[in-house]
Amino acid sequence: MTTIPAGFSNLSNNLRNDHPISFLYTASLAMADGQLKPPAGIIPPVSLEMGKVQCTSCHDPHKNMISDFLVATTRNSDLCNSCHQRTGWTTSSHGTSLKTWNGVVPDPWPYTPTSDITVAQNGCESCHNPHNSGSDVMLLKYQREENNCLDCHNGNVASKNIAAEFNKAYRHNIGNYTNIHVPNEPGQLYTNMHVECVDCHNPHASTNQTATPPYAGGALAGIRGVSQAGTASEPVTYAYEVCYRCHAGSSGSPAAATPRIIVQNNLLLEFSPANPSYHPVASMGKNNSVPSLISPWTTSSIMYCTSCHSGDGSAATAAPHGSIYPHILKLQNLTTDGGTTLSGTTESPAAYALCYSCHSRASILSDASFKQHKKHLQSEVRAPCNTCHDPHGISNLQGNATSNSNLINFRAGVVTNSSGGQLKFEGIAGNHGQCYLTCHGKNHNPLSY
Ligand code: HEC
Ligand code: HEC
Ligand code: HEC
Ligand code: HEC
Ligand code: HEC
Ligand code: HEC
Ligand code: HEC
Ligand code: HEC
Ligand code: HEC
Repeated sequence: MTTIPAGFSNLSNNLRNDHPISFLYTASLAMADGQLKPPAGIIPPVSLEMGKVQCTSCHDPHKNMISDFLVATTRNSDLCNSCHQRTGWTTSSHGTSLKTWNGVVPDPWPYTPTSDITVAQNGCESCHNPHNSGSDVMLLKYQREENNCLDCHNGNVASKNIAAEFNKAYRHNIGNYTNIHVPNEPGQLYTNMHVECVDCHNPHASTNQTATPPYAGGALAGIRGVSQAGTASEPVTYAYEVCYRCHAGSSGSPAAATPRIIVQNNLLLEFSPANPSYHPVASMGKNNSVPSLISPWTTSSIMYCTSCHSGDGSAATAAPHGSIYPHILKLQNLTTDGGTTLSGTTESPAAYALCYSCHSRASILSDASFKQHKKHLQSEVRAPCNTCHDPHGISNLQGNATSNSNLINFRAGVVTNSSGGQLKFEGIAGNHGQCYLTCHGKNHNPLSY
């Protein structure tokens, strides 16, 4: 033969989809990479050739003890971990899972795992191909980032069908972005907005470790984010820090769903502990009197973003992958307001299922706190919770210091100026307050309760 036949043994003269070779593997390279053994620590028989990674680092052309003339087995990532040491790998789900392949996983790589091999044994090669990889970057099997995950997370190998969640109407649209994500991108995505599985998960470090709010669980281990102080948090400690990567002042983060009097689209500022009112995601809440709370929720509770934003239905994960409800909400929360026609939303347990999952419907309709809840929700006005309450938090004050308690931030357009030209809410201790506004054809200038 003068030329090697086409096929997997023919690496072609494009080596971008093969493991890099012919470069010096120095101590400073290992240091800069951060997740490589120092050259002196490389585990034999893997070796360098005159200080360089070469074909012969992994292959011995005279000895075929293992197959493919490899110097060490790829089982359990042995070959790769002779040089690499990915942070978190040894305890990660992908490095330890005893789930087996079931033969239905399509694989462009000829070394398709069979049912006698576990995910742990398949190791790095579950996602990376040392040669002829489907992607030009990072030796990944597929160019489309999420496909590297969905082979297994579609109900085939891994326990939960995550692919199904992403097929729902409201989702993080991972399929929309290709070749935008890079592994060393900044923690905060001010620009270049996109979202991929690996923006929220580090496949080398993810575990099934559970956590309580606000702490990040194992699924978010080893991922970068932005702290409540606005600084880099790498890796994240708190789950919401992952969300602040993209939802704290980034261009491309979705616009506010509801136009409001106090405008704020930066989630970090909406949940700031300095605010007069917020749902307790980043710290404990400010209101000691929330009589509607259903046990185990109390005024000392802390919640996740995913307490509200997660998949619907009992099979779903507590993750903002996808939902049948708008804004990736776990439960329904209707928001139609009919304005002066008074034909907004008919109150029912289902209409506001999200809020009623933590706040007792009976308590709200008994007017335990706001003396006019029932009137506004049912008989007269049929206004949705959303017309008066901002679900996140109130980022600044109007009027005096006790104003804008109780997450009151009216819907602009529906709620307009009072005859005196004012539009504001003033909360007063002891479940009292007053409103300056016009709504549903009624002028409050002010009206107190
Ligand atoms: C980082 C380690 C590494 C380096 C460097 C490396 N290879 Fe490989 N190569 C592998 C592994 C691993 C396999 C077997 C695939 C498997 O078991 O999943 C393989 C398989 C092969 C195969 C067999 C493909 C087939 O199925 O017919 C050929 C040919 C090959 N390598 C050639 C080379 C050449 C030529 C170079 C240098 C340009 C090179 N390799 C560099 C790790 C490496
Ligand atoms: C002989 C040591 C050695 C072995 C064995 C080895 N690697 Fe590497 N690998 C390196 C070095 C060095 C780099 C370059 C790192 C850098 O530039 O920071 C690298 C880079 C990579 C990259 C990044 C490529 C890119 O496009 O940026 C991937 C992915 C990778 N290796 C995966 C593997 C896998 C999978 C295996 C096992 C099949 C393996 N490596 C075996 C030394 C090794
Ligand atoms: C479950 C899938 C999966 C497994 C298993 C996996 N990786 Fe990766 N790896 C990825 C993905 C996805 C990326 C790209 C990450 C990104 O873009 O943020 C990556 C990136 C890398 C990089 C490049 C990182 C950089 O910053 O340039 C190296 C090196 C690497 N992996 C080595 C390994 C080694 C070694 C193993 C086995 C010990 C391994 N990977 C196992 C999915 C995996
Ligand atoms: C080879 C199959 C396979 C591939 C490919 C794969 N995973 Fe996994 N993954 C698993 C298995 C098996 C587990 C263990 C938990 C289970 O059985 O569901 C797991 C666990 C996880 C976990 C931790 C949750 C837990 O319960 O352990 C996360 C997060 C995760 N995978 C994300 C990813 C991402 C992101 C990718 C793509 C970059 C990916 N996976 C690719 C098979 C895979
Ligand atoms: C916008 C961020 C985000 C994206 C994008 C994302 N996830 Fe998640 N994922 C999460 C969060 C948050 C959790 C829950 C973490 C926890 O409970 O500790 C989670 C949980 C998981 C779990 C564990 C599920 C369980 O119940 O055990 C797996 C597996 C997983 N994700 C896989 C994926 C895969 C695969 C993709 C891409 C197809 C993906 N995720 C995309 C944020 C994300
Ligand atoms: C890497 C960037 C990124 C991260 C991290 C991220 N998101 Fe998103 N998010 C987006 C983008 C972009 C959209 C718009 C939809 C799309 O294009 O996927 C979005 C949409 C949403 C939506 C739907 C908004 C609407 O009006 O429909 C919610 C809710 C959401 N994200 C919550 C979260 C939560 C909770 C987290 C943390 C667990 C998170 N996001 C982490 C980028 C991100
Ligand atoms: C108490 C429930 C709840 C919590 C906790 C919550 N959200 Fe929301 N979020 C909602 C609701 C309800 C909407 C839809 C608002 C509307 O219809 O006006 C929403 C809307 C959004 C949107 C769309 C843009 C916007 O602001 O309207 C994004 C993005 C978002 N949330 C992200 C997050 C992130 C990130 C966190 C955690 C830091 C979080 N949410 C915590 C209930 C919640
Ligand atoms: C996952 C549980 C949960 C869900 C869902 C939820 N809440 Fe809350 N809510 C809480 C907790 C816990 C507090 C107590 C915070 C405090 O003490 O300040 C609270 C407090 C409040 C407050 C008083 C806040 C203050 O600062 O005065 C209002 C108003 C409120 N929720 C309205 C809503 C509305 C409207 C919805 C639906 C969009 C909703 N909640 C959904 C748990 C929840
Ligand atoms: C017309 C405006 C309006 C509407 C509509 C409305 N609220 Fe309120 N809500 C208020 C006001 C004003 C307060 C403050 C009462 C006080 O001063 O203690 C309040 C207080 C609350 C509180 C905190 C105290 C408590 O009762 O636990 C919760 C929770 C709450 N509302 C939930 C809801 C839910 C859920 C809906 C929809 C089903 C809703 N609200 C609809 C105006 C409204």
